[in-house]
Amino acid sequence: SWTPDNFVDMTVDVLKEQLGNDKVVLALSGGVDSSVAAVLLHKAIGENLHCIFVNNGLLRKNEFEKVLERYEGMDLNVKGVDASDRFMKALKGLEDPELKRKAIGRTFIEVFDDEAHKIKDVKWLGQGTIYPDVIESISVKGPSATIKSHHNVGGLPDFMKLKVVEPLRMLFKDEVRRVGASMDMDAALLGRHPFPGPGLAIRILGDITPEKVRILQEVDDIFISGLKSWGLYDKVWQAGAILLPVNSVGVMGDERTYEKCVALRAVESTDGMTADWVNLPYDFLQKTSNDIINRVKGVNRVVYDISSKPPATIEWE
Ligand code: XMP
Repeated sequence: SWTPDNFVDMTVDVLKEQLGNDKVVLALSGGVDSSVAAVLLHKAIGENLHCIFVNNGLLRKNEFEKVLERYEGMDLNVKGVDASDRFMKALKGLEDPELKRKAIGRTFIEVFDDEAHKIKDVKWLGQGTIYPDVIESISVKGPSATIKSHHNVGGLPDFMKLKVVEPLRMLFKDEVRRVGASMDMDAALLGRHPFPGPGLAIRILGDITPEKVRILQEVDDIFISGLKSWGLYDKVWQAGAILLPVNSVGVMGDERTYEKCVALRAVESTDGMTADWVNLPYDFLQKTSNDIINRVKGVNRVVYDISSKPPATIEWE
């Protein structure tokens, strides 16, 4: 019968056989799938696995530094590449969600390609593709096209002529987590909420500026740290904040303000295909709203999203 331990032993043997002395390059995202894939590959081929972790400038507050440190602590051969400016340039003036996704996807490939070419004689591209990604990539090729062009699968450069190795291709998310746990990976890493590849760019409605990114990072950090300290983080499938392209009137002391509005979103789901909004405690929402408005300059209003998917989606873009 299938057990995570058996899966690890078998997969490591297969990878050793398949890869021999070849080098593999893999893009780490900080998420569960790419991290578990990296640890498996590392077990099989050690230093021949070259990981690249790109900062697109659209990650959560301090995430790049924190995650890079964690990867280094796991002994992975990882290179952090801060390409924030390049992404910000590519996004300049873009308002349409799909154009933003395309610009980010394209820039990611350019950055990754530059880095991968610095590794001599690399033969393989490692990916953290899991079974639902495989299914989705088949279904999005259908005539109904995409609702949103997720680029978890097939988004990496074919033109590099690399062979692809995807050790998690047959697994569901919960199995990936169990495999990670059986390799003694950090529970905090394995329990992370999903986070979209285009990051905060699709949670800032409209065009992206460094100032908007900074505001949303602060808001998101207050919300997510709050969920953790109230013991709610693990009860929620995914959560985040959205910066709305709306100013509203407020009052602070004797002054009238005219500042930004943010929406908080927390959902329950099993696979992201359908989702329900979470009934977070009023006390928590009240405290979080106060913290955000008092601490984040430029925000004077907080709302909570009570829409389910369908007909809404999890992300607003
Ligand atoms: P939606 O908004 O479609 O989101 O209900 C479902 C899940 O997919 C994530 N998502 C993305 N992930 N690239 C990604 O890698 C994307 O462009 C993208 N758009 C949405 C979303 O965060 C949720 O987990």
